Formats: sequence, structure tokens, C-alpha cells
Amino acid sequence: MSATDNSTPIPIFLDQDSEAALAAALPALLARSYARYSNFTVAAAVIDEDGRAHLGVNVENAAYPSGTCAEQTAIGAMVTAGGRGIAKVLIAAGSDAVVQPCGACRQRIAEFATDTCEIVSVQAGKATRRTPFWRLLPESFGPRDLD
Ligand code: THU
Repeated sequence: MSATDNSTPIPIFLDQDSEAALAAALPALLARSYARYSNFTVAAAVIDEDGRAHLGVNVENAAYPSGTCAEQTAIGAMVTAGGRGIAKVLIAAGSDAVVQPCGACRQRIAEFATDTCEIVSVQAGKATRRTPFWRLLPESFGPRDLD
């Protein structure tokens, strides 16, 4: 069975905030990334305010700017499931990189981030670095500005 065999079951943990279990599942999820152009695979798990996990991978495109980041895919899954608050985002890459969300994804996370939202970097299935989200995007433009 190859690493990209889509019949490989990947555990998806819903209705619980089990950070260690989610971190352990992310390396397998990397096989679902569609990183045809950069070969830089990324997997993300957004944990909403109710403790539900929503997964995403980066989805690249032949028209390069049309590609989406893993965080964006996961946020779309959360909103589709009815989630409206992000408590935590776990991010893993197919390299040893300690990936923090790109600038555009920081803005996307900010739309839904709780005051205590954390970014958790995952290496080899383990959480290695924890960053308070608002430290990554202080003084930002957000929904309250439009009220
Ligand atoms: N990428 C993500 O999915 N999330 C990040 O936080 C950083 C970058 C993706 C976008 C692109 O498909 C690849 O990584 C290389 O930039």
C-alpha cells in the first residue's frame, strides 16, 4: 500500500479535544495533501470551541495562486460543520519544518480565533511548539471593525 493510497484509513477524532491523538494522526493525513507543484505537504487540524476537530491539507493548483493552504481547508471544514470559534490549530509539514501559518492564513484564523487560541506545531506526530495565536497577528483588522 503506497503512502498516497486513498483507501488507507486515517483516524479522524471528532467531538473531543485530544491534542496528542490528533498530533499523532497528522503525519498520515499528509499523504492526502495535493502538493503537486511545491512537494511541500502540509496538514492541519482546527479544533473548534466545542472541541471538535476539523482536518485539512494543502490543495495546490496549476494556476499557482489558486492553491489553498491546509489551514484554509480545515477552516472551511469547520465552518461547514457549523463551528464558529477556533480554540487551537495543529500544523504539520512533510519536512522537519516548524510551520507557522502564513500571513494570509493568520488573517483567516483571526476571523474565528478565540482570545486564548493557540497554534501547535507538530513534528513526527508530536506537539513541539505552542504559540499564542494573537502574538502572531496583533493589531489586526477583524470582524469588529465592520460592526
Ligand atoms: N502551506 C500551507 O498549507 N500552510 C502554511 O501555513 C504554509 C504553506 C502550503 C502552501 C503551498 O501549498 C505549500 O505549503 C508551499 O508553500
